[in-house]
This record gives sequence, C-alpha cells and structure tokens, in this order.
Amino acid sequence: MVSRVIPVDPFDLVIFGGTGDLARRKILPGLFRRFCAGQMPADARIVGAARTDMDTAAYRAMVSDAISEFGGEFACEGTTLEKFLQQIDYISIDARGEKGWAELQEKMSGTDRVEAYYFSVSPSLFGDLAERLQHWGMADHESRIVVEKPFGRDLETARALNKTLATYFAESQIYRIDHYLGKETVQNLMAVRFGNMLFEPLWNAQYVDHIQITVAETVGVGGRGEYYDKSGAMRDMVQNHLMQLLCLIAMEPPARFDPDAVRDEKLKVIRALDPVEPHHIARGQYLAEVGNETENPDYRTAVNDPRSHTESFVALKAKISNWRWAGTPFYLRTGKRMSARSSEITVVFKETPHSIFAEDAGRHRNVLSIRLQPNEGITLGVTIKEPGPGGMRLIDVPLDMTFADALGDQDADHVDAYERLIMDVIRGNQTLFMRGDEVEAAWAWTDPLIQGWEARNDVPKPYDSGSDGPTVSTELMRRDGREWRKV
Ligand code: BG6
Repeated sequence: MVSRVIPVDPFDLVIFGGTGDLARRKILPGLFRRFCAGQMPADARIVGAARTDMDTAAYRAMVSDAISEFGGEFACEGTTLEKFLQQIDYISIDARGEKGWAELQEKMSGTDRVEAYYFSVSPSLFGDLAERLQHWGMADHESRIVVEKPFGRDLETARALNKTLATYFAESQIYRIDHYLGKETVQNLMAVRFGNMLFEPLWNAQYVDHIQITVAETVGVGGRGEYYDKSGAMRDMVQNHLMQLLCLIAMEPPARFDPDAVRDEKLKVIRALDPVEPHHIARGQYLAEVGNETENPDYRTAVNDPRSHTESFVALKAKISNWRWAGTPFYLRTGKRMSARSSEITVVFKETPHSIFAEDAGRHRNVLSIRLQPNEGITLGVTIKEPGPGGMRLIDVPLDMTFADALGDQDADHVDAYERLIMDVIRGNQTLFMRGDEVEAAWAWTDPLIQGWEARNDVPKPYDSGSDGPTVSTELMRRDGREWRKV
C-alpha cells in the first residue's frame, strides 16, 4: 500500500522554548520527519525562540544533534538534513521583556502565510507570550497558538488561563495539545467505532459488562520529580490523556468528523460522569527496584520528599450517567514503574445468557482490546470449539489484528503524535485538540477527588516496582467480581 502525503501550505512556525526538552525530543525531530516525507514545503520557516543567547548557526547545530539523537530511523538522504536546517532560524527572546520581539516581528511581517506560535514553555509564561504577541501585532487572524499541558492545575487556574488567552486570541486560534489524541490508534478508535457496522449496535450497557482503560509505564518520574510531585498521576495522566480516551470510547457518534461536532460529544461524556466515591479509587506510590535501588529509587527518594503523599499510580471506577452507559462501569488505571509499558482499552462484553452445550460448564464473553502502544492493534476474543474429538468443548481464542502485520510498509511510515498534531495546526484543523470548555469540565470532575485526598490526608499505598500497582487496585476490581487485564 502506498501512503499518501499531502503537503501543507507554506507556514512560519515559531517555537518558544525552542531549546527545551520537548522541542529537542519531539517537535524538531517530528518536523524533520514531515520534511523528509515531503509534507513540509520547501519555503516553510521554523524559528526557534528562547532566552539562551546563541546564533542561528549554533541553533542549527543543536537541531541537527537533536535529530540524530531523537529522530529515529526515518529514511532520509544525507543532503536532506542540510536543506531542512536551512529553513531554521533562531532568535534570543525574553518572554516578559522587550528583547528579541522587534526582530521576531520583522521576520513575521509582510507574509500572508499561516503563522503558528508554539508555547513549549512553562505555563506561567503562556499569558505573557500571548500578550507580547498581541502587543507586537502578531496576534492577527491568520495566527495560531499551540499550548502544551499542563493546562492549569485545577478548575480555577484553567479558567483563569482560558480567560487570559481569550483576551488576545479567539478560541479558533488556540490549539491545546493532548498528545494522546495524535496517536495513530487513538484515532483508530473513532475509525473502528464509526467506520464499522459491527460494533456500534453492541456499544452500550445492554451488551457491555465494563470497559477498562490502562496506561501503564515502566519509567519512574526520572528528572521530572519537581513537576511531578506537584501533579501526581491524577493531574498528569487522568485529567487529560485517560479522560480523552474515555470520551472517545464512550461518546455518541458525532454527526460529522469536524472539530466542534466531535468536541461537543466528548464534552457531553465528561459532563455525564458521576462524582467518584472515595472507596472507588486506589492510589499508590512505587517502591525502589529491588537490587537496583540507586538507579531506580523509590518514589519519595526520586522526588526528594520523604513525606510526599503524591500518587504515582491511580485506579478508579467511573460511571457515566446517560442512557447508553448507565450500569456499565469504566475502570481507569495508570501508573509509573509498572510491569510493562502498555496502553490498552478493553471492552468486556456480557456473558452469553445461556449455554446450549452440555459439555461446556462455563459461560463465555467476547473481549475487544484496542492496543495503543506498543504493537498497536486490535484483538477480539471469540469463543470457538476446541479442535479434535471430545464433544463441544469451547475455548476462547484471540482474533488478532496487529496493524504492523496488516498494513506492512504503510504502517512503518506512521506518523508520531506530535508530527500529526503540528501538521493539523498548520492545516487549521482543531479536531484533535482540546477546547477550553472540555478542559474545564475535566478539571471540574477531577478537582473534588484531589481535594478529597487533601482533606483526608490520604496516603497512597506502596507498590513494588515492576508490579501492576498496589493490592487496593486489585481489590477495587475484585469487589465487583472482575479482574484487571494483564498489563
Ligand atoms: C505525558 C506525561 O503527558 O505523557 C508523562 O506528563 C508520561 O508523565 C507521558 O510519561 C506518556 O506519554 P507516552 O506517549 O509515552 O505514552
């Protein structure tokens, strides 16, 4: 199969925080891969902007290093990198002062191309950058801003940030990134649900027993301890990534695949979520890796706070009060230092109501698993007859569609989440970005949970590194007569 790459229109992309970790790991290597794929036009310009004093030549050298370190194995001829670097400039800028702005303004003036400003900086600077852009006449209707998470740390701060950005930019110009929405299989969720007749009639409480969403990581907090300890798994993962997955799996079919139709449906899901009862939440904190304590210390050592009550694991049972889902629980789980890196959504259907086979004592259920990473694909567990003599003994086997096997070469060029999202910014397509009201609604749901822990001084339960979380998480499921899928 041949993949179709449609070049985007010429654009100017300014990356504030252009020397930072995200720019080096994701944004710049991602742009390079789009360049190699022929999607980035030869007259597009990228401007790195940061506080550091350096000239364009030094910045290009930094970009080149970042690409060799994080660019993956994307096939690209030697001269192509040189050509790509020619399209990159650098400006040393002060987000809160005057330095660099006149130069940036001059660079951006006189073109009628798409202008995108990527705020890959601390959220405390979002408002300043927006104000500076307007002050220097760069907040015109052709311009877009891209803001990274965290978008606030609770409803109040998210509201304030939305208000500040709205002073300078219209909602249609604000692209709030949740990189999970850019993942190939996350979009496939919508394709599977709304491109097939097979699933949708069964996609409701009458046929679905429960749904599990797991995002498990093997890494610890690493060098991000200071940020992470103020966030925890709930703010860092659940409020955004897991809730987005929940919305896509639970939402009603939008009338069209367009930004507002999709986001309206997602918002309805968030607003239909019941408050979570305290005994339906399990929080955990990882212990050191046995035998490797220096390299992989316990959470509290990693964040340098021996009394930290921040969770590195959280599991909870959510209920959606609407006609489609009343009675079907959604179990969400995410954590660091778990047994494997695995993100999966599993739809567990109800058992068959009656077994007609005398030899078969059990009842059977179908299980649909959508693997986001690694080995993206879909598995449907079906019940068949065990081969051979001995009567009608039934077994459950997986019908496995691993996308890499099914799609071959086409899958090999698949696009990283950041690449896709940046190209969508240039194309002006907000479908895979969070709208301001969505973010606020998500905080409105998670805030009371976090406030509850704080009020009760809740202490997360320790769990072994390399396990699947604390035993309270297993118990949360067991109480309902269910089990987590193996990570
Ligand atoms: C980020 C979180 O948003 O997502 C990190 O801040 C987490 O803590 C990361 O590790 C996971 O993303 P991915 O794409 O590796 O699953």
